[in-house]
Amino acid sequence: MTRPGSRHRAWIEIDHAALRTNLGIVRGLAGGAQVIAVVKANAYGHGAVAVARTLVAAGAERLAVATVEEGIELRDAGVESPILLLWGIGPDEAAEVVAHDLEPIVTDEATVALLERETSRAGRRLSVHLKVDTGLGRQGAGTDEALTIASRVARSAELVIAGTMSHLAVPGEDDAYTEVQQLRLARVVDAMRSSGIDPGCVHVSASGGILAGGTVVQADAVRPGLALYGLVPAWAADRDPGLRPALSLKARPCASSTCRPARRSATGSAFERRRRPASRRSESGTGTDGPASMPTTGWRSCAASVRRWSAPSAWTGS
Ligand SMILES: Cc1ncc(COP(=O)(O)O)c(C=O)c1O
Repeated sequence: MTRPGSRHRAWIEIDHAALRTNLGIVRGLAGGAQVIAVVKANAYGHGAVAVARTLVAAGAERLAVATVEEGIELRDAGVESPILLLWGIGPDEAAEVVAHDLEPIVTDEATVALLERETSRAGRRLSVHLKVDTGLGRQGAGTDEALTIASRVARSAELVIAGTMSHLAVPGEDDAYTEVQQLRLARVVDAMRSSGIDPGCVHVSASGGILAGGTVVQADAVRPGLALYGLVPAWAADRDPGLRPALSLKARPCASSTCRPARRSATGSAFERRRRPASRRSESGTGTDGPASMPTTGWRSCAASVRRWSAPSAWTGS
């Protein structure tokens, strides 16, 4: 964040109270399940280390990142929580994973063998999550091979199954497909238990699944990213659960003018002023003091509209 008095023209502010509120809302929606807070991609641009500290202090049981590098950044900053790696790892990353006690996903026997070699060389044990592809078609063991891989990990002296997981393709948008995915995961988990293998913490829902509700699989944890930052999918726009946007973009004013109603502004005529006549242009390059019309596709902020333009009064002279 850039503070008033600095020479920056535009800056973002992160509302850590909103992060805490959103965590509580997510946990409530998830029926009290554990929360694996996704802080990949620099916590979706909110600052990975600061966000991780806030969410862990507020009770998030686990963190999740995409890459080994992101996990190391958190460890180097002193974050001690379990950290799940959402992306599969390559052979050259195994040593770092073990050294920094990160929790990789396993999706095939080659990865299990690789991690076994590395843990045994380091004289350590490592927690892993069995990732099952139940229909997303992106990454994971097939449902017919998941039990074989789980058995392989269960026999290992070095590896422990901390969790069994999957990822939903269309939560909230195709209930039948979502149910099929969850039933496939439930069948894998049942087969593991029947074979005496503890699946650990079972988790399947990211923000979309949490907001869609109605889970059929008995999940122990959820893996929200976007919802923690105050975003909901467009299909959930009419059921605002009270999430608050955690990020505000602010900018110093550079010009003030009066626009007639229906006058368009911004590059590409992106915004059309329908209600209020006054317009202030900011130095972030795109802003007016609150676009009257916004695209509604994709993810949107939970606030009724983009936050009002604001600047310290010292800068506006008002
Ligand atoms: C496996 C997995 N889980 C959870 C998430 C978090 O998803 P969202 O930000 O939609 O909550 C992601 C995001 O990419 C993911 O890939």
